[in-house]
Amino acid sequence: MAILVTGGAGYIGSHTCVELLQEGRDVVILDNLCNSSEKAVDRIREITGKDVKFYRGDILDGPLLDQIFADEDVSCVIHFAGLKAVGESVEKPWEYYHNNITGTLSLVDAMRRADVKNLIFSSSATVYGNPAEIPITENCPKGQCTNPYGWTKSMIEQILTDIHTADAEWNTILLRYFNPIGAHSSGKLGEDPTGIPNNLMPYITQVAIGKLPELGVFGDDYDTPDGTGVRDYIHVVDLAKGHVAALKKVEANGGLCVYNLGTGVGYSVLDIIRNFEEATGVKIPYQIKPRRAGDIATCYSDATKAKEELGWTAGLGIREMCADSWNFQKNNPEGIQ
Ligand code: NAD
Ligand code: UFG
Repeated sequence: MAILVTGGAGYIGSHTCVELLQEGRDVVILDNLCNSSEKAVDRIREITGKDVKFYRGDILDGPLLDQIFADEDVSCVIHFAGLKAVGESVEKPWEYYHNNITGTLSLVDAMRRADVKNLIFSSSATVYGNPAEIPITENCPKGQCTNPYGWTKSMIEQILTDIHTADAEWNTILLRYFNPIGAHSSGKLGEDPTGIPNNLMPYITQVAIGKLPELGVFGDDYDTPDGTGVRDYIHVVDLAKGHVAALKKVEANGGLCVYNLGTGVGYSVLDIIRNFEEATGVKIPYQIKPRRAGDIATCYSDATKAKEELGWTAGLGIREMCADSWNFQKNNPEGIQ
């Protein structure tokens, strides 16, 4: 039986494929490469010494999905494919709603046709909006998202919940990721954003390598210990392992479940700069800038539920996250090519 990984050439998907293959699973990737390179699939093969089947195609392509389900013995789908740039989603809401929501509906419809009803979905801590409680448990109510990208995650969660309510044969796990950073220890896989990065760690590594002159720190007047924003950064390899744990739950007919995937620890922007400098020996020049629209002060998880029910906890610390991000950047100055 194979696991179909949509978006498997991307940042989190590629690391998850490595962990699945290392667990002895068969993996089939579907990715349209709109934000990734087929080279990432080669790197997955290099790291694991195992083969992985790759389909270049779109989750919106129903006939292609039918062909994949007919040709591959798929037992579960891990669904990463989606557009994820917060700022771009404000400029192009239709494209985000269509790709992420219509794309998920298309995938789920093909799964119904193929009678494959095991699904793990990449959601986000963004669904909590400005969280009603810190640390954030899964019982924290969902909030108002500040951009179309966030709404796609929130709406897809609702859609998948309703589909499970109507048909209890579905085993659906919604994984709410906190802030994935880091890279594979081989230096062969990592985050490879196009253009100027929006997220903190890829911005820092591009400053470190000299592509960008300095980091802007968005606000130092938040109600946090040092005034800068606090987030729950999680190593992408730990996050990938969280999917392997979730897969076991799905296979045990777990029904509908929601889990936070975070470390439970919050770091400020200045903490990250300091840890990066200490882990790599590279100085990061920065300047305090005004707050970024839509940002919240503090967001970190209570990760107890995943520990108790999936037996999963994040094991890698902030130093490893910084060192591995830098190692990937140094080894791949132009990304995965
Ligand atoms: P990514 O862009 O690196 O990977 C997404 C992959 O999906 C890319 O390879 C892209 O080419 C592919 N894709 C996009 N639309 C597609 C379509 N219609 N058909 C087929 N392939 C398509 O992003 P990532 O960081 O690996 O994120 C993976 C998932 O996790 C996304 O759904 C994202 O929204 C979610 N997520 C990411 C973060 C984060 O900070 N990285 C946080 C929370 C949730
Ligand atoms: N930041 C800076 N300078 C930068 C970039 C970021 O100071 O150049 C700060 C932000 O203000 C924030 C922190 O660094 O305080 C983290 O910002 P990121 O953009 O890296 O991450 P966010 O928490 O804003 O958002 C990320 C993803 C979202 C996802 C969310 C929760 O981009 O898609 O985590 O999982 F929804």
